[in-house]
Amino acid sequence: MAATGRQERPSAERTPARAIGTVPTDEHRRQPSGIPELDRVLGGGFVPGSVTLVGGEPGAGKSTLLLQAGHALAAAGGPVLYCSAEESPGQVRSRAGRLDTLHDDLLLACETDVTAIADLIEHHKPRACIIDSIQTVEHPEVSGSAGGVAQVRESAAALVRLAKRLNVAMVLVGHVTKDGQLAGPRLLEHLVDTVVEFDGDRHHALRLLRAVKNRYGPVGEVGCFEMTGAGLRSVSDAGRLFVGEAAPDAAGVATTLVLEGRRPLACEVQALVVPTTLVNPRRVASGLDGARLSVLTAVLQQRVGLKLLERDIYVATVGGLRITEPAVDLALALAVASSDCDRPLRAGVIAIGEVGLAGEIRQVARLGDRLAEAERLGFTEALVPAAYDGAAAGLRLHRVRDIHEALQRAALAEPGPMTRSRSDIVS
Ligand code: TYD
Ligand code: MG
Repeated sequence: MAATGRQERPSAERTPARAIGTVPTDEHRRQPSGIPELDRVLGGGFVPGSVTLVGGEPGAGKSTLLLQAGHALAAAGGPVLYCSAEESPGQVRSRAGRLDTLHDDLLLACETDVTAIADLIEHHKPRACIIDSIQTVEHPEVSGSAGGVAQVRESAAALVRLAKRLNVAMVLVGHVTKDGQLAGPRLLEHLVDTVVEFDGDRHHALRLLRAVKNRYGPVGEVGCFEMTGAGLRSVSDAGRLFVGEAAPDAAGVATTLVLEGRRPLACEVQALVVPTTLVNPRRVASGLDGARLSVLTAVLQQRVGLKLLERDIYVATVGGLRITEPAVDLALALAVASSDCDRPLRAGVIAIGEVGLAGEIRQVARLGDRLAEAERLGFTEALVPAAYDGAAAGLRLHRVRDIHEALQRAALAEPGPMTRSRSDIVS
């Protein structure tokens, strides 16, 4: 183990406590990365002396983003050190060429030894140092292979101390597997100041970057990127990116507005309901919560009488977006009902609301902001919880109390009271 033990400092070195208001903030020292969506997630840029962990699955775009950020930081003034312990110098060089991120102040080192990296930082005094990735660097005093728990923790601890001591903005790349369990990022979250994570399917061009932890800014902030032939492009207006190209008269398609951080995103939910040949029908969710789909299916069966027992149900989002917010419930339920009865929803309708077990439509956070965004994107009608008493943002609002009323307003069910015995509502 490395000598990480705390040493007693002589009392003369101790810093006195002072009135909190007299302590200088780190705000003025922020270094914008020059990539708008990254700066949005970081809360304005990298802070010198801070450590940022960039997590994500292999192929998510971590190296691409950081090469671009390193270039922008170098171009803004001062050397930036990019330590690639994963790829050969030639590989990184040719990628940098393709990304048009060559710069005299962007220094490249392919180094895996933490002490050697420390020497490089001492020597070049960069304003930022990017370590790609933490799983491939090694601490010479620690046993075990690179990527192991002990190595990752001690190497990261050494880099954190280095960042504080030399006042460098340190950026660590960490690979996360699909279940997020690889030794590395999870282990390091408490060690670092900021954790941002790439989300998004590598088969899709769209990538979301989320701040999971941020000692210097808001968490929950989301950056939106598109992977192009020339690297990642910031997408400041996500607009209709997550709304697909399904024909307007396609059944089984509903649109909602989810909040990603503070950002409302319009997204389409698609459902396909087909007769099953299985004893246990399939419930397959892609980008949505499978357990939630089961609950909503039960609610539709019991509260509106849809006959879904002998149906396979497939649901999906568009563009690889992953939605965990309950506000998607209503759109999901409408998409399933729409596919089941093979009737499309009216064009221009969005649906926002959580569905309770009793079939009631419940309030969701910041509905006004979502409606304003829906109006901006050209939607004309909205199904919202009855309890919503805010502005309509220029939309025709349908305030609905329960799932049955929602289906009626969406012209998917005939009028009548909500009852579990009505098995003939949807033809
Ligand atoms: P990469 O940044 O290497 O991902 P990570 O470091 O997170 O493992 O690259 C992600 C993917 O993006 C890779 O499969 C190739 C693709 N890509 C592009 O489409 N365009 C580009 O300009 C680059 C550099 C990569
Ligand atoms: Mg990489």
